[in-house]
Amino acid sequence: MRPLLSVLPVAFMAFAPAHAAPDGATIYNRCAACHTRTGAGVPGAYPPLNADFRLLAARPEGRRYLALAVIKGLNGPIMVEGKPYRGMMPAQGGLDDAGIAAVLNHVGGTIAKAGPAFRPFTDKEVAGYRAGGGGLSAADVAKLHEGAGGK
Ligand code: HEC
Repeated sequence: MRPLLSVLPVAFMAFAPAHAAPDGATIYNRCAACHTRTGAGVPGAYPPLNADFRLLAARPEGRRYLALAVIKGLNGPIMVEGKPYRGMMPAQGGLDDAGIAAVLNHVGGTIAKAGPAFRPFTDKEVAGYRAGGGGLSAADVAKLHEGAGGK
């Protein structure tokens, strides 16, 4: 029976629906390459995903900035938790609206521990920011940080 039982989970996965909801924790692996597994970041190079993220997520213009940072990339300068960053985050390609929402919700709900309560993003909300931000460059998105409610 042993060989058969070990094959069963594989067979089951093969029949999982193709449109299964994306897993934010899995997508976060690509973010962790720079922002680190805990989201602490690297001072001066990769900003932390913590209090600034949650503060931004508490305001409409901040939510737009966060979604567009992942969709379009970011080309500073920005100030995050009192430290300057003048880096370049590449646009995170290959993520649809549901994938962007899932990874932002993983960051806001699990990675970030400080700041105000986090209200999750919906796919529809991300679709709206994507449509409205079509013409923005990574440098334009970075300019949205100031005045979007971060610190
Ligand atoms: C190749 C490295 C790299 C990867 C991969 C990466 N980032 Fe970034 N990220 C950066 C850099 C660098 C900055 C700062 C950019 C600047 O100085 O303008 C940044 C900034 C940010 C910010 C702005 C933070 C703030 O408080 O304003 C957010 C949000 C963010 N990243 C989320 C993500 C998410 C989510 C992912 C994965 C889907 C991701 N990043 C993947 C390098 C990366």
